Amino acid sequence: MAMTDLPIMKRYIRTCRDGWDQGWHERNGGNLTYRLTKAEVDSMRTFFNDKPGEWVNMGVTGANLAGEYFIATGSGKFFRNVDIDPEDSLCVVEINDKGDSWRIVWGLVNGGRPTSEFPTHFMNHSVRCAATNGACRVIYHAHTPNLIALTYVLPLTDRDFSRVLWQSATECPVVFPGGVGVVPWMVPGGAEIAMATCEKMKEYDAAVWAHHGLFVSGPDFDTTFGLMHTIEKAAQIYVLAMSCGQGIRQTISDDGLRAIAHDFGVKIKEEFLD
Ligand code: 13P
Ligand code: ZN
Repeated sequence: MAMTDLPIMKRYIRTCRDGWDQGWHERNGGNLTYRLTKAEVDSMRTFFNDKPGEWVNMGVTGANLAGEYFIATGSGKFFRNVDIDPEDSLCVVEINDKGDSWRIVWGLVNGGRPTSEFPTHFMNHSVRCAATNGACRVIYHAHTPNLIALTYVLPLTDRDFSRVLWQSATECPVVFPGGVGVVPWMVPGGAEIAMATCEKMKEYDAAVWAHHGLFVSGPDFDTTFGLMHTIEKAAQIYVLAMSCGQGIRQTISDDGLRAIAHDFGVKIKEEFLD
């Protein structure tokens, strides 16, 4: 048995492949992190390096994640290559007892560090973990082309994006009844965008990054990948409809959105409805 034969590693690696297959990960675009359970960490310990790496400060603090372990994609690594060389592309990091630094305990065998968006992933984990009583384990960032296109033409508000996406496919209000947050364009990779994103993640399980991509969160890979897929597909449908050249002639009414939420037993964000 190798590290990469562990069920959790197999599911992680498969999710990277799925994202590549969707066309969301040009070059090194996108990143994925998973917060391991105690049992999963124990199943990995025999594979951890004898000597862990140096502690690296993140510039942000998530005290509720002190001592946790994460699987992460490496910065500059290509999703396309994860399944053929996971030891080169991925790492497991341990968080220190203050919740402000990481160190590598497995992977990135040819050198490197976790994704440059690790501060954003980490702060999203911190707020989503708190908001879901520990259920949230996955944070996923992808460069979803149709959703990015919409950030050039729609007002950059939570309300505008949530409404357009809900109206673009009947399943949407069921899959993300809470809507999506929108973060204005910012320089990626640092503490500032991490804090702006985690402010949105206190309220939403998905945050659009203007002119860049999407962050989603969830309890497992299927749900999280499914949320990314549903939002991007809704954006694609809106782009296709607008591409027909006559504008939107009819759409799902606000009472229709309320009726879906009622029948499917979910709580739609009422302040976004007229
Ligand atoms: P990394 O290669 O550092 O993960 O960066 C990719 C990316 O999508 C930045 O937002
Ligand atoms: Zn990105």
